[in-house]
Amino acid sequence: MHTKSVLILTLIGIVTLAGLTAYAQEDMEFVDDSGFASNMRPLPAFRHDEHNEKAGIEDCIECHHVYDEAGNRHDDESSEDQECSECHGAEGDEYPMELVRHFHMNCKGCHQEQKAGPVTCGTCHVRTGQ
Ligand code: HEC
Ligand code: HEC
Ligand code: HEC
Ligand code: HEC
Repeated sequence: MHTKSVLILTLIGIVTLAGLTAYAQEDMEFVDDSGFASNMRPLPAFRHDEHNEKAGIEDCIECHHVYDEAGNRHDDESSEDQECSECHGAEGDEYPMELVRHFHMNCKGCHQEQKAGPVTCGTCHVRTGQ
């Protein structure tokens, strides 16, 4: 193969990969954190971009936050490239109760505060046959 066509193919590859990464959250329909080895409940419905648009959330760090050691949230830093379990996980084989708690605090907490969005188990963990 020509060096030039190899270069072009490589470029196409890079562009495709960048596209996949950039649009991953757009295609998200459920929260499925890999910190849970298995799920007891159906995966919670969460159409990432559509949800945030409807809820009027403009700032990614409402959910993808970074805190410093003193416990202050950094307003100019995002952890959108990390799963929640990377910071709210569990040691070893322990069931990640802290992770469940943090998810519920984040999702349900805001729904309760704003009196909008689901707050009962079955309205988030919807049975869809997934
Ligand atoms: C209401 C909460 C919330 C807001 C606001 C939010 N996200 Fe997310 N996002 C999530 C959750 C939950 C996940 C899944 C995390 C996990 O698996 O642990 C996620 C995942 C992601 C992922 C990974 C996608 C994938 O498929 O793996 C990216 C990238 C991302 N968000 C970017 C953003 C950006 C950029 C913004 C701001 C424009 C944003 N998010 C705002 C909750 C939110
Ligand atoms: C880079 C590490 C990191 C990531 C990633 C992260 N957090 Fe946190 N989070 C923290 C730290 C540190 C605190 C402060 C100490 C605490 O409350 O555990 C915190 C606090 C919280 C709190 C309590 C205070 C608040 O701001 O509401 C909730 C709820 C929470 N995180 C949920 C989440 C969710 C949901 C995700 C994924 C969308 C997430 N966190 C991703 C580090 C992280
Ligand atoms: C900062 C506030 C906030 C956070 C955090 C948040 N939500 Fe919401 N959510 C809302 C609001 C507001 C609505 C109602 C939007 C409307 O008017 O339809 C909503 C609606 C929903 C709905 C109803 C369908 C829809 O997409 O409108 C689902 C399902 C939902 N949220 C799931 C979640 C999950 C799962 C999380 C955590 C990963 C989460 N939400 C975190 C504010 C929030
Ligand atoms: C506002 C939405 C919301 C509500 C309401 C809610 N959850 Fe969750 N829950 C979540 C999210 C998001 C996760 C993280 C799921 C994942 O990543 O797999 C989760 C995780 C869990 C998990 C750990 C994962 C699994 O399936 O084993 C359990 C257990 C759970 N929830 C039970 C409940 C119960 C019981 C209730 C009612 C008392 C409830 N949840 C209400 C959003 C919600």
